[in-house]
Amino acid sequence: MYTALDFEDKRQALEFLKENNLNQIPVKVGMELFYKEGPAVIYDLKERGHSIFLDLKLHDIPQTVNRAMKNVASLGVDVVNVHASGGKKMISAAREGLMEGSVNEDCRPLLLAVTQLTSTDQTMLSNELLLPHTVEESVTHLAELSQSGGADGVVCSVKEIKMIKQACGNEFFTITPGIRKSEEDQHDQKRVAAPFEAGRDGTDAIVVGRSITEADDPFHTYQLIKEEFIHGKQ
Ligand code: C5P
Repeated sequence: MYTALDFEDKRQALEFLKENNLNQIPVKVGMELFYKEGPAVIYDLKERGHSIFLDLKLHDIPQTVNRAMKNVASLGVDVVNVHASGGKKMISAAREGLMEGSVNEDCRPLLLAVTQLTSTDQTMLSNELLLPHTVEESVTHLAELSQSGGADGVVCSVKEIKMIKQACGNEFFTITPGIRKSEEDQHDQKRVAAPFEAGRDGTDAIVVGRSITEADDPFHTYQLIKEEFIHGKQ
């Protein structure tokens, strides 16, 4: 379970972890924090023993993504991602870049692809992106495309875990954001679900941000969500 460190700067992120005794938990660093602090925040978190999902969602021409991923791999993070809509060639280029940039090719970062963001719904897909398919069709297609391009898995909503595992096999990794406890605000997420549903449907990991970072007691909430994800609703 990755906790999304969606904070303005490194000071706030490290303070949050320290004050709430969330030592050595797996974390996700996104664009907000990385674009402010750069590699320094990664080194600091690694030094404190956190495993890191660097969520930069790369999407560019294959060569640019290849070179960027080479640099990203040299940071020593554990999981990285691209947008699947960048296409098969771009995904393969990302994988090659990761292998080139890793000290040891066997321990390159895991490469995930984002199919459709969990903030995307059918109306947006049809009316804004003019895609003549359902969210589910688009997600399944992009997951298969990602797999054929050499991605290790995808980032997907809880509702999509089963159909992705069915299409791409159980070993194809899924990480699932858009997690909310039932009584909670959805914020800007459109496709949300509870931790026990993510566990029940067999996702490999979940990403939880505001439910933990904005909780009254983040440590307790972290434990509750993790418990519900692993062991189901008691
Ligand atoms: O606060 P919340 O739990 O909604 O945070 C979810 C995190 O997961 C955010 O950092 C967001 O950028 C990320 N994410 C997502 N949907 C994806 C990929 C990543 O919400 N498809």
